[in-house]
Amino acid sequence: MTITASNILLGVNVDHCATVRQARFREHALDHGNEVEPDPVAFALLCEQAGADGITMHLREDRRHVQDADIRRAHAQIRTRLNFEMGCSDEIVALALELKPHSVCLVPESREEVTTEGGLDIVGQKSRVGDVVSAMTEAGIITSLFIDPDRAHIEASAELKAPWIELHTGAYANAYYGDRRAAELEILCQGAELAHRLGLVVNAGHGINYTNISEVLEIPHLHELNIGHTIVSRALFVGVEQAVREMKAFLK
Ligand code: PXP
Repeated sequence: MTITASNILLGVNVDHCATVRQARFREHALDHGNEVEPDPVAFALLCEQAGADGITMHLREDRRHVQDADIRRAHAQIRTRLNFEMGCSDEIVALALELKPHSVCLVPESREEVTTEGGLDIVGQKSRVGDVVSAMTEAGIITSLFIDPDRAHIEASAELKAPWIELHTGAYANAYYGDRRAAELEILCQGAELAHRLGLVVNAGHGINYTNISEVLEIPHLHELNIGHTIVSRALFVGVEQAVREMKAFLK
């Protein structure tokens, strides 16, 4: 299928709804009642109602935002697709294999970082990443590798037979008001071209917002964009459904 700018899918990352909840209710069990708010699964269901094509949740090793119970409830309740963002630790891999979400997105994980800062080092961790890709494929789960738009990582992703990659758009987003904006966009475009030639499905995410989205759409061969922080932020002002509809409108 040829993917054009008219049918790029929107995956909404709801982690930061959970961040707001954890800011107040870190010590509470999630069955404490309606007072434990806001609920990221309820947020996800509103996103779906407004046209989100999928929901992403990242269960981090330190459980700083999404909790195990959130992933389980999301898996049971969402109607589109759950994209389980995760590191490659044995514990999290086992949970993914148990739940069998539609897809997993493998990311590097360091406890110190506020959010995922860089792409996965496929070249340096080829054996471990390859094992996880094989296990997921065998279980019928699509694996997406979150990587910097770098030739070596793109080629290594193809060698590992990962069906999808997610190009890290963070460097471009950070450069948006600086000198390297056009250069970073060009790197993403070339990375997407290479990945497409190698048969990889190309997603992108991190730092995409209502301002830079128009330019992000210049990246060729995009299948899905995964967007979180800006949608959660906008939802505070206009509500979840409008925030999602506004982003969807860019993708149509
Ligand atoms: N994709 C991946 C792999 C991420 O780690 C993140 C951040 O959690 C996102 C997409 C969404 O980034 P943002 O919240 O900046 O939209």
